[in-house]
Amino acid sequence: MTEVISVDPHHPQPDSIAKAAEIIRGGGLVAFPTETVYGLGADAKNEAAIRKIFAAKGRPSDNPLIVHVASRAMLDRVAFASGDDTLRLIEHFWPGPLTLVLRRRDYIADSVSAGLSTVAVRMPDNSIALDLVEASATPVAAPSANLSGRPSPTRASHVQQDLAGKVDLILDGGETNIGIESTVLDLTGDHPVILRPGWVSREALSQLVGTVELATSDESLKRSPGTRHRHYSPRARVVVVESGSGISLEQLCSAHMASSRVGVISHSRVAVEDPRIRDIRLGESAESYARSIYSSLRELDEWDADIIIVEGINDTGEGEAVMDRLRRAASSDEDR
Ligand code: TXA
Ligand code: MG
Repeated sequence: MTEVISVDPHHPQPDSIAKAAEIIRGGGLVAFPTETVYGLGADAKNEAAIRKIFAAKGRPSDNPLIVHVASRAMLDRVAFASGDDTLRLIEHFWPGPLTLVLRRRDYIADSVSAGLSTVAVRMPDNSIALDLVEASATPVAAPSANLSGRPSPTRASHVQQDLAGKVDLILDGGETNIGIESTVLDLTGDHPVILRPGWVSREALSQLVGTVELATSDESLKRSPGTRHRHYSPRARVVVVESGSGISLEQLCSAHMASSRVGVISHSRVAVEDPRIRDIRLGESAESYARSIYSSLRELDEWDADIIIVEGINDTGEGEAVMDRLRRAASSDEDR
């Protein structure tokens, strides 16, 4: 059975946190909000608990998990964190949506890093998440709390849709702030390499540590197993209209309306009124898209859209991560 407890995101109730921490320490699963998306957490030291995460999500066992820490001391038990770049990044971006891939220590269970010699670590910028990790007194491994291949959850209700009955407790802290996942940055090579674009942009990283590469798909496939699977996808087919492509949303809708229920996510007005079309309007900024893109995809899936047409935004700065997720959702790669 899955219990759901509402928690105040600014002043988490200590008794609720204590209850969740007890479940983590006992080898159970707790879903909790972070500033990016909801995570599905377990004790990173407990091999059996980690296997429960993979089973609940239906996640391939070759796709490693992110470990969440609440302090520098906890980081040092999980990984080797040294070097100017690493320390500068931690100092500047933690707590926050930047995940660092570092050389791992034996303290955590092997399956957390799927047999790699590295581990992905971050300190989340969310009081519920930080209090939970601290009260558990153990690093908490947590992938996004969705079924593998589904859009990441930004509300407790999304976690329930995907994982009811498979997680012991959901801490409901309301809607997450950012709405897309953290940036995954590999610091184990000669230069920092972005394995997964995220809310911390390449520009922001470069300002601090100089040249930062973005892994090509071949490279990220080798270094970040998770990026090879199609992610972030709703059931409906997704079509992304790239910004500046000159394609008219109205024409695209009309072309599909005859045979399909058409969902639209856009920032410009779509001048087609028809019961076979449902349009969700977002602000044009990366913030607005990030915050609502996953919940919009889920909403249109529930409405039973056959196709979802998404109007793209500029893929500079934070928009790069938003467009990365949309292109993945639209990819014709059938590996989900
Ligand atoms: O914002 C986030 O990062 C959320 C919240 C819950 O923290 N978590 C999240 O976890 O998105 P997940 O499991 O859905 O994505 C983790 C990504 C995957 O692409 C995985 O392949 C990569 O991080 N990753 C994990 N460990 C790695 C490692 N040792 N080396 C390379 N990539 C790794
Ligand atoms: Mg995920």
